[in-house]
Amino acid sequence: MSPTIHFTNPGFGTVEADEEEPLIAVCERTSTPIEFGCMNGECGTCLVILEGGAPEQPISPQEQAVLNVLAAGEPGARLGCQLFAEGEMKVEYRGLTPRPPPPED
Ligand code: FES
Repeated sequence: MSPTIHFTNPGFGTVEADEEEPLIAVCERTSTPIEFGCMNGECGTCLVILEGGAPEQPISPQEQAVLNVLAAGEPGARLGCQLFAEGEMKVEYRGLTPRPPPPED
């Protein structure tokens, strides 16, 4: 069965992918509007949150360093340019959109 990627952002839809197809290739092929910049895990433009079906794909030290800055403590945070299609994935695109400050006590 082909990998399926459910993008949770409104209007992004669900796409089929080839096994281990780079997420960036999937997005280009399907015109899914995730933005990519450096393509090598340095800029954070492609920040996504894996909300389900998180694949067992390793996080490199470089990717972890970027995630520590942009999404510290956020479960499922990954850089889309470092991911490959695998199984059933549920993906929210965040990019570099500023997040609201945490609520005050
Ligand atoms: S495109 Fe720059 S970190 Fe993914």
